[in-house]
Amino acid sequence: MTETATLDRIAALTKRRGFVFPSSEIYGGLQATYDYGPLGVELKRLIKDDWWRAVVRDREDVVGLDASILMAARVWEVSGHVEGFNDPLVDCKKCKARFRADKLDQAVCPKKPSKKPGECGGELTEPRQFNAMFRTKVGAVEDDASTIYLRPETAQGIYVNFKSVMESTRVKIPFGIGQIGKAFRNEIVTGGHLFRMREFEQMELEFFCEPGTDDEWWKYWKNERLEWWKSLGVRASHLRIREQDDDERAHYAKACGDIEYLYPWGWDEVEGVANRTDYDLKAHQEGSGRGLAYRDEAKKEWVVPYVIEPSAGVDRCFLTLLCDAYEEEVKPNGETRTVLHLHPRLAPTQVGVFPLVRKDGMPEKAREIFERLRTIYRCFYDQGGTVGRRYSRQDEAGTPFAVTIDSQTLEDGTVTVRDRDTMAQDRVAPEALAAFLDERIRAWTPRASEA
Ligand code: GAP
Repeated sequence: MTETATLDRIAALTKRRGFVFPSSEIYGGLQATYDYGPLGVELKRLIKDDWWRAVVRDREDVVGLDASILMAARVWEVSGHVEGFNDPLVDCKKCKARFRADKLDQAVCPKKPSKKPGECGGELTEPRQFNAMFRTKVGAVEDDASTIYLRPETAQGIYVNFKSVMESTRVKIPFGIGQIGKAFRNEIVTGGHLFRMREFEQMELEFFCEPGTDDEWWKYWKNERLEWWKSLGVRASHLRIREQDDDERAHYAKACGDIEYLYPWGWDEVEGVANRTDYDLKAHQEGSGRGLAYRDEAKKEWVVPYVIEPSAGVDRCFLTLLCDAYEEEVKPNGETRTVLHLHPRLAPTQVGVFPLVRKDGMPEKAREIFERLRTIYRCFYDQGGTVGRRYSRQDEAGTPFAVTIDSQTLEDGTVTVRDRDTMAQDRVAPEALAAFLDERIRAWTPRASEA
């Protein structure tokens, strides 16, 4: 087996198989924006459903929220984003390329990719601050008063609803509010496919706790979240937690543990677990004049809670699953096959159903089995091309099982079940098929890691 995953090849597969397309492609594309195709939208939904189940629905101490993307401009002034959500930017005076001043060592000149910024002979300007929030206008009057922002994080929607959630539900500190939604950032440095986009989705939990218990909850959530990443089938050898240095942390954070994945280009962040202290709620309390404290009955006082925030990107999770699942495997006969070893729970298609040939009543029998299986699993019926080609297509789509109907099926009802990962085939009786597939899904483990 070879570990030849490169981002370009993964990106090519996502396009070829209908996972991800560059946005507005027929017009030349729009940088750092992507569209999800038929398989991609399914995988994306499965990721979000799994997060929602694990973080919100399965817990008694977390409730959900869906706040609007457009919020009062004052929210972002008070939260510190208007002032502080900046990246330092430099321009090359010759080729006009833009770079993040704090990431120059990782950047390459877009005109001459073999060269570092400025090595094209151009001088770099002094760094200046660039605010990464997108601005837009609301209403018909084009004046300053109507400028609003596209949210750069979903978290603020949770803070401004903190009191309403407390008053309308019976939640008591410690408790969390979870939310999934779009966020927008005018990133200076883009690239890395879905890794750094200008429009993306976040899955954020703001967990409110008593001051003084925050360090414990921070440790707890780092561990919970790491376990969730492993539960998606991501290889443990490719995951780690790294504490951010003082100069890396956002303006609101006392501490931040990044969950990192070993991408084809090296270790990078997939999720941050930050201790945001009482920074945001205190700021909004002052900014809005509305009380955002809770009553501590034991201490007989009003307290502004501390906040622990696990924040993950949906798209980055999507890319991580693909990077982890992608393999170009050399088969025993010397041929190479490309396969996505996605967890069967998350595979967009779980079972491919194929008649071996398009005659002798096999398609009719296959459709009968397909109609039965699709009430339980995400299924795809395919009778086009040789069965070998059909297997290859499903290997690239990450489909864990292929059920083939052949002449023996017509005699005794049994089908073959081909396993995507091992390519082994089992003969299974029709009445045992669902139990067989369920057990394979339950017992699935990620492949051994070579890295
Ligand atoms: N509310 C905290 C917050 O937004 P962040 O570290 O800036 O923290 C959290 O973002 C997560 O959102 C990241 O770990 C990443 O998964 C995702 N994310 C951030 N910027 C992104 C971008 N430009 N494209 C894709 N995902 C992004």
